[in-house]
Amino acid sequence: MHASTEKRSQMSPILVGLMGSGKSSIGRRLAKALEMPLIDLDKYIVEKAGQSIPDIFAEQGEEAFRDLESQVLREALLGPPAVIATGGGIVLREENRALLKSHPPVIWLKTSLEFLAGRIDGDSNRPMIAGGDTLKTLQQMAEFRYPLYEQCADLILPRGDMTRGESKRMILEFLKQWQNRGL
Ligand code: S3P
Repeated sequence: MHASTEKRSQMSPILVGLMGSGKSSIGRRLAKALEMPLIDLDKYIVEKAGQSIPDIFAEQGEEAFRDLESQVLREALLGPPAVIATGGGIVLREENRALLKSHPPVIWLKTSLEFLAGRIDGDSNRPMIAGGDTLKTLQQMAEFRYPLYEQCADLILPRGDMTRGESKRMILEFLKQWQNRGL
């Protein structure tokens, strides 16, 4: 097997970032380009629980959701290489941060909060923003979570007005360099 192909097959790029930053949609594009499967942890949780995310929050509570989130992260990292799209709160637990740090490369999709608010405002599938001022909630989340994303990230991608396609290309470029580091 060609060396770079062999290395590629051992890598599981993990996408982190706040809600609406494009983890699932960019993850899908990346997985296609890298010819790898995509594991979307939120989807995996919904399948496992047999319930939607709002229903898990409402009926079992946020802690139960976070337990499931840690469990699916562990399972995804034990499985074959894949692009892994996480939920925005993956960095909240110390055990998850430790896993992320020990499974590089982790890519933080960093987007302006106004852009995010525009994308997710009124989304009934996101219990963390239900019934509140979306921008304010995102500001509070950013204050608490940004240092945590930063701790775990090998690449911080400031998306600005970058499209998903451009973001994908930048990440692929980074991954190429990352794979060849130290060679
Ligand atoms: C959450 C983000 C969501 C989902 C859940 C909690 C969060 O995922 O995991 O609603 O705490 O930020 P997305 O980031 O894919 O929206």
